Amino acid sequence: MINSRLRFRFSDVSKSFDVLVLGSGIAGLSFALKAVQQGHTVAILTKKNKADSNTNWAQGGIAAVTSPEDDIEKHVQDTLIAGDGLCREKIVREIVADGPARVQELVDLGLKFAREANSEYDLGREGGHSARRILHVKDMTGKAIEDALLRAISREPKIALYEHLFGIDLITIGQGKNRRLQGLYALEVHDGRVITFRAPVIMLSTGGAGRVYQFSTNPEIATGDGIAMAFRAGAEIRNLEFIQFHPTSLFTQNNKRFLISEAVRGEGAVLRNLAGEAFMPRYHAQADLAPRDIVARAIDSEMKASGAPHVWLDITHRNATYLRKRFPKIYRTCKELGFDLAKDLLPVVPAAHYTCGGVATNLSGETDLRGLYACGEVACTGLHGANRLASNSLLEAVVIAHRAANSVTRYIAKHRNLASKPIPEWIDLGGTDEDERVVISHNWDELRRTMWDYVGIMRTTKRLERARTRIANLEREIHDYYRNFSVDPELLELRNMATVARLVISCALQRTESRGIHAITDFPKTRKRATDSRVRSSP
Ligand code: SIN
Repeated sequence: MINSRLRFRFSDVSKSFDVLVLGSGIAGLSFALKAVQQGHTVAILTKKNKADSNTNWAQGGIAAVTSPEDDIEKHVQDTLIAGDGLCREKIVREIVADGPARVQELVDLGLKFAREANSEYDLGREGGHSARRILHVKDMTGKAIEDALLRAISREPKIALYEHLFGIDLITIGQGKNRRLQGLYALEVHDGRVITFRAPVIMLSTGGAGRVYQFSTNPEIATGDGIAMAFRAGAEIRNLEFIQFHPTSLFTQNNKRFLISEAVRGEGAVLRNLAGEAFMPRYHAQADLAPRDIVARAIDSEMKASGAPHVWLDITHRNATYLRKRFPKIYRTCKELGFDLAKDLLPVVPAAHYTCGGVATNLSGETDLRGLYACGEVACTGLHGANRLASNSLLEAVVIAHRAANSVTRYIAKHRNLASKPIPEWIDLGGTDEDERVVISHNWDELRRTMWDYVGIMRTTKRLERARTRIANLEREIHDYYRNFSVDPELLELRNMATVARLVISCALQRTESRGIHAITDFPKTRKRATDSRVRSSP
């Protein structure tokens, strides 16, 4: 049963569209633009403000082959190496090959990637890349992309954009292989009403689940909502144990972690332990520009060996004028927090950054639940494998969004008849129990700490099993609360995070090997044959 709060009688469907898009980052907005151009009625729903997305926070940029000194094959090989044997090579090849065309579309929308004096792109370099290939807008690439896409959306009167509408659950119809999507219940955040949307197609572009961890570079919205919703509706979730830890977030005394882009190491920054040693050459031939999993584990190992709460990042060989120009946001934020990039070593630690697994899709963003699509960090196409190559995520989002729009058009043409089928009604049980409400805030903290302590960079079976027991207890309490009281965004996010935490652990326990970002001391070797981990519910 997807949802224990439904009464099976005809519901007043408040709104009806061909396509609903959940989330307003690069994946959702790119897809919405393409879908409306194909003549569909489209609504975008976002749980906060339209610009509150993970995309907005992306610093590094978008990886694509645009330089004569680079080539597609090199980008493919870098992606495959980082993915540690688990990437789907066909998918990698198609996405990388499509990159330059999709990048050009962003340029056509008005995006101004940084250029050299000779007007060639000023390409950045990041870990695991064998060439300079990161198109960037200084260290605010995500924001520039988000702004350009939102401007384009505002020019499309046929796209309805709803802010502060929180998708609760997908509505499906039929049984077994005939199950298909029929719509969505969504919470109107400001007044607590639940609205029923009818739509034959839903695109999940809700981003990742970094906030399931105590320390994360992600914004607060990254609570894995789309993954949890898709799971409850019976879609396959794949390879969710691969949570990427970014090696360098600024260490502060509170829970907040500010990302220091890998592009800073791309411009020569060096990691040092507290003894001042540049330690990365001891771990990998590419030293500070080794793939992310290797750098994050090396930092973890240095910190454990010395008992230090952080390592240092050193870019003091660059002067202030250069750093202010190339990394304006990082420079300014560090300054506000008391660090001068040109003079001071920065204390840095790894933090949860990117969800490499997710809702399983093909190259067209189709999941195995008919009518349900997923694109961006919420999805698992097979591009990232066991460890995403830096800046490949924005690339994946634009390529899949493009292909999904064509697939959706074919799907809608075949399923026009869905509009007449009944939809079960949502029941509002009303009220909150203030005495029990404390369970929610307490459970938020406990869940994130459990994930950080037991399902982090270095794993053991024993710790994973401990985490499984704790999360199961939390999930029971949260579910009781969900069943008996009115829903609100905090409760819905917590419910989703608890589900995602359970799925991460379940996938991690399936993987009896170390591969990519999944490092487990009981199984230090990588198996010869790479297989996917999978979870699904039977609604
Ligand atoms: C970064 O700027 O280091 C992050 C880029 C990414 O995660 O792809």
